[in-house]
Amino acid sequence: TALLKVMSDAARKAARGLNRDFGELLELQVSKKGAADFVSAADLKAEQTIFEMLSKARPGYSFLGEERGLIEGTDKTHTWIVDPLDGTTNFLHAIPHFAINIALQREGAIVAAVTYNPITNELFWAEKGKGCFVNDKRLRVAARQHLNESVLATGIPFLGHGQHATFLKELHQISQRVAGVRRFGAAALDLAFVAAGRFDGYWERDLKPWDLAAGLLLVSEAGGKVTTADGGEDMLTAGSICASNLELHPLIQQRLRAAA
Ligand code: IPD
Ligand code: CA
Ligand code: CA
Ligand code: CA
Repeated sequence: TALLKVMSDAARKAARGLNRDFGELLELQVSKKGAADFVSAADLKAEQTIFEMLSKARPGYSFLGEERGLIEGTDKTHTWIVDPLDGTTNFLHAIPHFAINIALQREGAIVAAVTYNPITNELFWAEKGKGCFVNDKRLRVAARQHLNESVLATGIPFLGHGQHATFLKELHQISQRVAGVRRFGAAALDLAFVAAGRFDGYWERDLKPWDLAAGLLLVSEAGGKVTTADGGEDMLTAGSICASNLELHPLIQQRLRAAA
């Protein structure tokens, strides 16, 4: 649709800039400012590109981005929620696993989502009620029904972030019962991978709306179930997530509750 085209064009254009910057980082041509400053400049530039393209295509929509915060438009029923670079730490360390995340919220509900991985050229996208896709392929969440054959993703709290003790208890409850736990470092791709059935489930706390907004629609349109880590409904406000298929979701919830 026209809406999805606007969103994917913005993601791809921002990605071209990020790819160039990633290449420069790999070739160690990073300016004297240092790698961390260079990367935060890359985030800002990508967000600026996305902001310009989206506001040109849909004048008046509000815009919530990680780098610029909330920019209120004249149309308060529509808000873009954007993470121009999810997986900054990966990017900074030359680990090729990051994404551009764009969601559209209409009257509180996420109605369209794009998560773009510029390294693999995978564009994950969904529109409410119309299913979830990667490029032109329809996606379904995994069909696994037992924890013991499942691979789950999570996020490990880091310096200045997250409830470390809670996380360790949750990991203790889960890791001994599953086939594997992964921490790849980009929440947007963790959710896209659940939608694609690569991960059977994913939970994480201490996230921001721009980490989650696109992915929660991807997973639900791929037939999955998405709640907060505590089983609630308002993921964007709570900043936590538990995403999986319908069979595994209650089993993961049970383990998270046992950790509480
Ligand atoms: C981070 C990533 C990471 C998650 C962090 C987020 P950023 O986003 O999604 O996987 O564990 O909590 O802040 O900072 O790279 O955009
Ligand atoms: Ca992020
Ligand atoms: Ca970011
Ligand atoms: Ca960040």
